[in-house]
Amino acid sequence: MIRETSIKAVFPEKRLPHYPEDLTPDRVKQVRTLHESVDGYAVTPLFHLPELAGRLGLKNLYVKDESFRFGLNAFKSLGATWALTRILGERLEQPVFLLDFSYFKQPVIREKIRDLVFVTATDGNHGRGLAWAAGQLGCRAVIYMPAGTVKSRVKNIEKEGARVCVTDMNYDDTVRLAADAARDNGWIIVQDTAWEGYEQIPAWIVQGYATMAGESLEQIQDAGFDLPTHVFIQAGVGSMAAAVVGYYANQLNQDCPLFFIMESDQADCMYKSALADDGRPRVVGGQLNTIMAGLACGEANPFAWEILRDFSTGFISCSDGVAVQGMQLLAKPGLGDEPIVSGESGALGPGLVHCLMTDPKFSDLKEKMKLNQTSSVLCFSTEGDTDPENYQKIIHGPKAY
Ligand SMILES: Cc1ncc(COP(=O)(O)O)c(C=O)c1O
Repeated sequence: MIRETSIKAVFPEKRLPHYPEDLTPDRVKQVRTLHESVDGYAVTPLFHLPELAGRLGLKNLYVKDESFRFGLNAFKSLGATWALTRILGERLEQPVFLLDFSYFKQPVIREKIRDLVFVTATDGNHGRGLAWAAGQLGCRAVIYMPAGTVKSRVKNIEKEGARVCVTDMNYDDTVRLAADAARDNGWIIVQDTAWEGYEQIPAWIVQGYATMAGESLEQIQDAGFDLPTHVFIQAGVGSMAAAVVGYYANQLNQDCPLFFIMESDQADCMYKSALADDGRPRVVGGQLNTIMAGLACGEANPFAWEILRDFSTGFISCSDGVAVQGMQLLAKPGLGDEPIVSGESGALGPGLVHCLMTDPKFSDLKEKMKLNQTSSVLCFSTEGDTDPENYQKIIHGPKAY
């Protein structure tokens, strides 16, 4: 039942953190400079929702809205653009500090790269970002998608000029298929998760996502708002969450907020890993059947898992109903607050915060997470209505709270 809200949480012992070198302020600045050179780059809005925060019993609620990112309705292109730049920079033996996205658009350079084919597996958003970035550079892209992918997501990727193959497998098996296809055809796999022997490109993708985190902190500081005390971040393979956690940890050190990692309860590999509490990642198999398509990943990026394991206060496994609350809440947040179009994987944070702050059955959890009138909560709405039909159905459907 889609409206049912079930939440399971685990608060493992924190480990001695090692600060991720890939996400130091200097490195993240370099990534941001590259992004600023991509056509259509603009800082995405960060909404301060005072009315809703007050109603929920929080001091502040900030929501960063990634539906505006490069006109692609999700944050994912940040990873693809930086990874492609690094891959091409290495191929063309161009030092990274000289890189500017427009460099690759020069006719003489385009001629050198036009036969390259980039391949990936995706629930939708990463594939769209990669197809778009490859198209910007005049390269080709082949995108594999898991069984059950909705038509609108396929169409959006095809619109960027990529070839799409929908498989009869779940996300994690589709990743393996894409890697095999790359090897067999001499294509370049640009995957947003790592495995043994394939680490560099996913690490670049994580770095690429740090632009979103960097913008958010800058926006909060520039507006003179309170620093976040709590950051709620949703995870599929965990790469985006690792970028946010790694960036904030490196920037704020002892002022670091509490980090809570949220997953779908149908693909909660990090929650299960934290529950086992032996430091090693666990895998969730099967259909991974959730409306949160972007979070339907049963195997964590091992590099991301280490960051999340060492810095996060809690891991939360959520039913689809929690995301539904978030979508409805952000669509009509309350008098004076800006409405936000937030899709299934984007709205989980506000949905979870809403459940915790308003449903008495979660009051112990709320207390454990130290959520109260002194809390400033930051969430990332990582996508807009990437499945517009389902979005409309949920927004105009029966109220979930
Ligand atoms: C909208 C959205 N939010 C969050 C995520 C999770 O990102 P990651 O797989 O890096 O954990 C994804 C992944 O595809 C996504 O599409």
